[in-house]
Amino acid sequence: MTPSSEAGEGAEAPVLDPEALVSEAGALVETVTTVGALDEVRTHLLGKRSGLARAHQGLVTLAPEERPEAGRRLNEARRAIEALLADRRRRLERDERARLLRAEQLDLTEVLTPRLRGRLHLVQRTRDELEDVFVGMGFVVAEGPEAETDWYNFEALHMPPAHPARGMWDTLYLDLGDPETVLLRTHTSPVQIHMMENQGPPIYAVMPGKCYRRDTPDARHIPTFHQIEGLVVDRGISFADLAGTIESFTTAYFGPDIHSRLRPSYFPFTEPSAEFEITCTICKGEGCRTCSQTGWIELGGCGMVDPAVFAAVGLDSEVWTGFAFGFGIDRCTQMRHEIPDMRVFYDNDARVLRQI
Ligand code: DAH
Repeated sequence: MTPSSEAGEGAEAPVLDPEALVSEAGALVETVTTVGALDEVRTHLLGKRSGLARAHQGLVTLAPEERPEAGRRLNEARRAIEALLADRRRRLERDERARLLRAEQLDLTEVLTPRLRGRLHLVQRTRDELEDVFVGMGFVVAEGPEAETDWYNFEALHMPPAHPARGMWDTLYLDLGDPETVLLRTHTSPVQIHMMENQGPPIYAVMPGKCYRRDTPDARHIPTFHQIEGLVVDRGISFADLAGTIESFTTAYFGPDIHSRLRPSYFPFTEPSAEFEITCTICKGEGCRTCSQTGWIELGGCGMVDPAVFAAVGLDSEVWTGFAFGFGIDRCTQMRHEIPDMRVFYDNDARVLRQI
């Protein structure tokens, strides 16, 4: 096809080679790598300023009898270019989907070394659980200092300096103030005194914490250990309230098969006093070596707050009555998890700590 002689003086010589347009378009379309870029190329190939559009405009320069054939070929070229674009679009979309799938793929066979994570020590977990049980029964949780004066640890608890009961606790004194006046608390009972002094009755509180005694470590004793103290002070509190509280706690913490019993005992700060025992968790009360065939295991001490203790903190024992109890958290852990030797709690042997 040749442009007619009248044409050509103007700026643009019409391109009337549709096959060339198609093959140029084919090459251009293949260079495109994204769907977005393909839209631009589409405008370039088929838009108002495209070679194809110019060729259409150029039809007028042809002799009238040549125009239909030339027009048909141009239309064919448009369809061919559209097909090229559609084909490229399909392939680009397919590639993009495949790329996305690869990127989002999970390799379920991948083996990752698990990160070593710390965890709470079993004794701490026991403490948390005990607190939960008592909070569920309406108690608050309080804490006191680990370094105490002689007054809080002994005297206010009705153990004057010469009292023989002081011999029950092998005390670690601190090199502070006058000799034998400041010490590492030997039990959590001094927190009872702080509670009564600081907030006054009514009191329904448990007081967990660390205690220290100059003990020789063995399977059931460690020199640094934990206790949880309980104190209730209100009007009209009776020994039955104490027994009921101990029994509720025992079944709540150890399970419905484990019960409690109280046996007469002596503590300077309670009157009357009792030891509380729970069903042996090993034999469930049948009798075994751990419980010396009795079916019972001692857990702690308890009793009604002695009027002398109320007097030490200025409370009128005609108005207020109360009970107290205290037991070892480590002992509790040992019993509940059937751990033969308590010393593993402090050995820091990772092989043991990983299991508990
Ligand atoms: N403080 C005592 C001890 O360490 C245990 C104890 C006994 C606590 C009787 C009490 C109690 O509150 O009433 O052996």
